[in-house]
Amino acid sequence: MDRRNFLKNSMIAGGALLAGKKLAALETAVPPQAAGAISSAAIAAARFPKDFLWGMATSSYQVEGAWNTDGKGESIWDRAAHTPGKIRDGSNGDVACDQYHHYKEDIAIVKSLNMKSYRFSTSWPRILPEGTGKVNQKGLDYYSRLVDSLLEANIRPFCTLYHWDLPQALEDRGGWPNRDLASYYADFAAILAKNLGDRVTVWAPFNMPTEFTRDGYGTGGAPPFKTNIDQFLKAAHTVNLAQGMAFRAIKAASSKATVGSAYGMEPVYPKTDSEADRAAAARFHNYNNIYCLEPIFHGTYPKAFIGEIPYEAMGFKPGDEKIMKVPLDWLGVHYYVRLLASDASNGAPPDTSSHDPLAQIRIELAGEGPKTDGGLEMWPHGLYDLMMQVSRDYDHPIIEITETGGVFMDAPGADGRVADLRRIEFYRQHLAELARAMKDGARVRAYHAWSLLDNFEWGSGFTQRYGLTYVDFATRKRTIKDSGLWYGRVAATGRLDV
Ligand code: FCB
Repeated sequence: MDRRNFLKNSMIAGGALLAGKKLAALETAVPPQAAGAISSAAIAAARFPKDFLWGMATSSYQVEGAWNTDGKGESIWDRAAHTPGKIRDGSNGDVACDQYHHYKEDIAIVKSLNMKSYRFSTSWPRILPEGTGKVNQKGLDYYSRLVDSLLEANIRPFCTLYHWDLPQALEDRGGWPNRDLASYYADFAAILAKNLGDRVTVWAPFNMPTEFTRDGYGTGGAPPFKTNIDQFLKAAHTVNLAQGMAFRAIKAASSKATVGSAYGMEPVYPKTDSEADRAAAARFHNYNNIYCLEPIFHGTYPKAFIGEIPYEAMGFKPGDEKIMKVPLDWLGVHYYVRLLASDASNGAPPDTSSHDPLAQIRIELAGEGPKTDGGLEMWPHGLYDLMMQVSRDYDHPIIEITETGGVFMDAPGADGRVADLRRIEFYRQHLAELARAMKDGARVRAYHAWSLLDNFEWGSGFTQRYGLTYVDFATRKRTIKDSGLWYGRVAATGRLDV
């Protein structure tokens, strides 16, 4: 939602607005000399270590389907997708890729592509239909079967506990701005860790905490569509408390657990060299990239806004700094796009799309590089910059790339093959930049492509294909794309010129 939001207003409206804008014309391949392209010499030279964890990612609502099967409760995404006008193509995730019933087939694909890691998420209302209280054993059993099948295939299960599908029952009790959710969430995390912690060793409490709180409660771009900046501040604070509490709960339940989190980050560059724009870029980095990371590392909030840190509005209580601060075992980072920031604090037109009266920044996409079919610029160099920045600022943490990917709408040709050459080029170039960052000291141990499957892309419904596997949404038939086959060869060889 994130990157699209700042330009398109929101994940949902992002869908709506993008719908009004035609998808970029399909091109056949990335021009070799495109701005920002990585040289073929650098690609040929790139090497990854033998034990590098090649992986793919998905999330529960986007792939599982089975929205009301086996006792699952309603989530805020079920509610949103069942509300007319919220999803660009009028679709919903009721069935999605039906991974709930096809998980064995999906794991077989992951295995056939030599993957070592599969990042999935658990649906809170599948486990606790009301958000708290009675556990739905059938929901737990599903994830237990999924984990067992992954282990049988020699694939590391990477569990994201929360990828945006809050139980509707908890939204009805105030949602994330309600501080009580921190302890409800920690209870949910403990249930998962008790039941799967003998087999799952890698846990990410949240996917993109800043984005889902900001878009859900501040900008109105995502469920539950609230537009109140104080509600966002409260929601993000609850989530930061929840991260710390879940970290402890998971560790208490499973001695094998390692806990990180998955942050959406966009490297942000000043639009001009002016001091004001450089300050705006720094402010936006604090707001967009590390607002929910600094509390974990240091127990404090970064200076993300004009003026003082709004502790009172967020409902900060003495001692909260100790609850939030925990020693993460590793850091998860998504990279999709770079951003340009300029100052809007001096009467310049504010960025109305971000609806943010506190940061006073104008954010734009850069337009030098070629575009994906989703309209985002491809800028592999941004991944290098991000890796170096995070490594420098957080004293070289172990990093897992939790997502990168792009929309390319290629479909099966007459021979049944999906020749998505631009996606291959996209990954090849990003991975070359990742290899360079690793050579320069970034401790990256894993890379998860988004996504194993074409899936339900939130407010854009089924109109944006991110998969390395094509899904025919009428039949749920899976076809591994050429990019998937290529990525499988990369995983087998540790090279990009394959
Ligand atoms: C990320 C989300 C993921 C998917 C990709 C395209 O921000 O985590 O669920 O929507 O974007």
